Amino acid sequence: MEKILAEYRRQLGAFELVEIDEDRIAALRRELDVEVPLELRWTWTYGSEVEELRSLYERGKRGQWNAETDVDWAQPLPRDEWFLPREGLQLLPSVLTAAGVDEATCREAGFDEFAYTISQLLHGEQAALQLCGQLTNACPTMDAKFYAASQVADEARHVEVLAKLIERKLGTIYPIGGTLKVLLDKLLAAPTWQTKTLGMQTLFEGMAVGILDMFQKGSTNPLVTDIIRRVKQDEARHAAFGILTMRRTVKEATPEEMIEMEDFAFNILETLNANQQLDMLQELGPKYGLDPDSVAQMVLQSPDWAKFNSQPYMHTVVPNLARLGLITERTEARYRARGIVFGDRFGTGTDGDVAASM
Ligand SMILES: [Fe+2]
Ligand SMILES: [Fe+2]
Repeated sequence: MEKILAEYRRQLGAFELVEIDEDRIAALRRELDVEVPLELRWTWTYGSEVEELRSLYERGKRGQWNAETDVDWAQPLPRDEWFLPREGLQLLPSVLTAAGVDEATCREAGFDEFAYTISQLLHGEQAALQLCGQLTNACPTMDAKFYAASQVADEARHVEVLAKLIERKLGTIYPIGGTLKVLLDKLLAAPTWQTKTLGMQTLFEGMAVGILDMFQKGSTNPLVTDIIRRVKQDEARHAAFGILTMRRTVKEATPEEMIEMEDFAFNILETLNANQQLDMLQELGPKYGLDPDSVAQMVLQSPDWAKFNSQPYMHTVVPNLARLGLITERTEARYRARGIVFGDRFGTGTDGDVAASM
């Protein structure tokens, strides 16, 4: 099985980390032109063929909002107030608190890490915008084209709202992490609309729902809560598209194609997880006297690591893959060994916003 970024892997204890060197990351960021195969498909059937996608499209139309006028941008986001939990949600304030560092420094680190995370989400939103444009071309039914087109508008709004949040309140757009750039390019360059749907709509949208839900629940700042809530409701529709479309795709797949999709999903999520936030730690660690490797080692050795690490995965993406038959006994142990699957692989239930979109 192909291992993504094989040349940038190394062992840290029992864990295989992915860490891309600075020169390569700089080169990745300069790669603005990406060769992508795109099969454009006409259809002459303008009536609805896939009822559930047509109603998702209707839901999408009703769910539109304006990032400039519906968000109350006058609300403050002060640097000197906690608006996320000090421990447990973000890595830097948790580590610094455990090390006995003063509160003001921990708070600043939390603010920086939030700006870093929102920046990565922003770059991911741009990839989603581009990918949905591809799906509008490539999907075979008008229902899917309508739906994908409405998602293009959603993703443009997400790029807009996150860029404005950073520009107006957070101050710094951090550049894209190397691992994320490689994975997003892989999805954009995936050969078929089915693989693109699996990669972006099922894996990345599912991750987005999990991460955004954790931030929405943790935030005590009204502006942040409102923006995250709005984006997450849209992402839940996008994840629903992933599930609805993949349900049909797996029904028609051969056993070989199922294995291919299961491996593809594992490879993407395994690589994302194998970075263990080293990209973030390289960017922000030095400012707080933190050595990225030592932090990663400490995190990996903590007794609750897998439970904590698996949270954004177990929220939506893993249960969805398991229900689609794309995490089976064949790959489950590998997911568990890497701290991605923890507990029941079907999770504890479907996210409320995703369930409401189905
Ligand atoms: Fe989005
Ligand atoms: Fe999305």
